Amino acid sequence: MKGIILAGGKATRLRPLTLVTSKQLLPVYNQPMIYYPLQTLLKAGIKEILIIIAPDYAGHFLHLLGSGKEFGAKFTYEIQEQPKGLADAFIIGKDFIDDDDVAMILGDNIFSDDLSEEINTFQSGGRVFAIKVPDPERYGVVKFDQGNKAELIVEKPKEKIGDHAVTGLYVYDKRVCGFAKELRPSERGEIEITDINNKYLELGELDVRKVPGKWFDAGTFDSLLEASNFIAEREKGKTKR
Ligand code: G1P
Repeated sequence: MKGIILAGGKATRLRPLTLVTSKQLLPVYNQPMIYYPLQTLLKAGIKEILIIIAPDYAGHFLHLLGSGKEFGAKFTYEIQEQPKGLADAFIIGKDFIDDDDVAMILGDNIFSDDLSEEINTFQSGGRVFAIKVPDPERYGVVKFDQGNKAELIVEKPKEKIGDHAVTGLYVYDKRVCGFAKELRPSERGEIEITDINNKYLELGELDVRKVPGKWFDAGTFDSLLEASNFIAEREKGKTKR
């Protein structure tokens, strides 16, 4: 399986911090943000990783991460000129993915769980991870039917349809590249990963897994601080033991 880290975008919500560097390079306690999603992929044994970055601070990523050798992996870089939506990762990454399955993770997503087993047992179709959140209107949200089976995923629902957000880790088979190519931009002008998930859902091939741990989409000041505090507690806990 190959891996993609999507670390593009301008992160205007985090200005002025993001006027001088990229969001995914900001510190989350004692490490740059991108280290956390990177570790999620590395722990799962993924060694070939494509890192998609915005043009502005591309050099910073290269400086920090290099070839991947130090991490026991091989990194490839692609530039995303414009933030066109998460599904764009599968258009940019088509040649890289080639005939393999792919795990795509957002460069600002931090998971406390070790998801290696969930990534490694993937066979075909799509697999996504849902977590209960207090503010589902910020995310893609899963609607479960009476039998607790995923029925539909709605991007930033205006009316409440559930409280499980689809997190920023997605595992797909290679068909994802073809599905991404067919997408039309949404109202916010992006090609939505939610449309890809609904495509797999329609085919009866989307496995929605509820995960128990903590998850942070560190794209706002509050979530960035919350993530830093969480990691700090975890690190201090380790040294105490
Ligand atoms: C994106 C996805 C959304 C998902 C979220 C996870 O939202 O569109 O479905 O729940 O990432 O972080 P965005 O960051 O584009 O608002």
